[in-house]
Amino acid sequence: MTRLFVGPQLDEFIHIREQQALNLLASLFQKSREGMPCDLGKELTALTNSIICRMAIGKRCKENPNLPSDIRKLLQGMMEYAAKLSFTQVFGPLQRLDLSGNGKRLVSTMWEYDRLMEKIMKDYEADEVNNCQKEGSDVMDILLETYRRPNDEWKLTREHIKNFFLEIFFAGVDTTAATIEFAIMELLNNPNILEKLREEINSVVGTNRLVKESDVPNLPYLQAIVKETMRVHPSGPLLRRQCNKDSKINGYDIKAGDRILINMYAITRDSRLWSVPEKFLPERFLTNHKDGVGQIDYCKGQDFSFLPFGSGRRACPGASHGLIVTHTTLGALVQCFDWKVKDEEKMDIKLVTGYSGAMALPLVCYPITHFNPFKA
Ligand code: HEM
Repeated sequence: MTRLFVGPQLDEFIHIREQQALNLLASLFQKSREGMPCDLGKELTALTNSIICRMAIGKRCKENPNLPSDIRKLLQGMMEYAAKLSFTQVFGPLQRLDLSGNGKRLVSTMWEYDRLMEKIMKDYEADEVNNCQKEGSDVMDILLETYRRPNDEWKLTREHIKNFFLEIFFAGVDTTAATIEFAIMELLNNPNILEKLREEINSVVGTNRLVKESDVPNLPYLQAIVKETMRVHPSGPLLRRQCNKDSKINGYDIKAGDRILINMYAITRDSRLWSVPEKFLPERFLTNHKDGVGQIDYCKGQDFSFLPFGSGRRACPGASHGLIVTHTTLGALVQCFDWKVKDEEKMDIKLVTGYSGAMALPLVCYPITHFNPFKA
């Protein structure tokens, strides 16, 4: 994880990110032409899922363009059945009975995923044997190359590879899509902030080309909006840890083996740490702001008042990738469209009950073309 989604390897995949972003824009331009609304969350999840699938197993996706949505369906099934398993079914004496049948459905979907990944791995191996390797390497190529090295100190198994992909599909798709969706929702509720962002993009990028990844370091207000979105709507509202030695925190005894939850949602709303915490205020993250939080390096996870990517050994390894996609997609959505919400002046941000902090209601809105780079 520490090699695959950072630095030069991440640069190798830039064409995938650009192509998939153009596909998203093309679909939204079409909706705009037809005067149709879009479920922005669904569009964004399709984007982040296609990007990750193409980085992971791009060669198979070229041959079977439906593969990303097939994988997504399996993952959605797993999430749905797992969410329906009640606490008593997982931990209580009734767990063996699986009264709802969701346990069986979950297991059967996981086996389906296993078979699909096994087939994909075999196809890669057959290509290797038949010497019909296509140009460029994706993450599967890199992992299979490691898998074939028998003398390595730490041997990668087929199960490791399948679980590795399962983890990045779970951890990388919805988190990135939700961050962009929440940002758009906040911009809809704060049109003055949207206008200020558009002015920044126009002055840095101009008005005849699309914002690109290399522009992001020159767009401090865009970066501040992303940080403020992650402060108010963290994708990981509860970080989970297991204590490995007896400890005392604030007078509380935490025993080795105890499981603890760190409530990031509460920490980023604590008025002792943040001024007017309930207000969406990207300016607080500009370097000259009096709160002085503009300097926080939120990817390193060393400032415990703001840990959108967690901290330490289990911190998010996909942060660089997630941030590149979030910044450029948000920039492009603001540059290309005016957004109108059906019958509403202000969006009500309701969250689902549970661990994820996701939006309870879909963000359905009309994209109205403001700038079309395909015509420029
Ligand atoms: C804006 C986007 C994202 C956000 C806000 C986010 C946030 C997080 C958070 C809060 C954690 C828990 C960290 C901890 O407990 O200390 C996490 C873990 C993780 N994330 Fe992300 N993430 C994002 C994108 C991604 C992407 C794109 C990938 C993969 C390409 C990814 C892969 C992972 C993995 C594998 C873990 C588990 C790490 C472990 O347990 O060792 N994330 N992420």
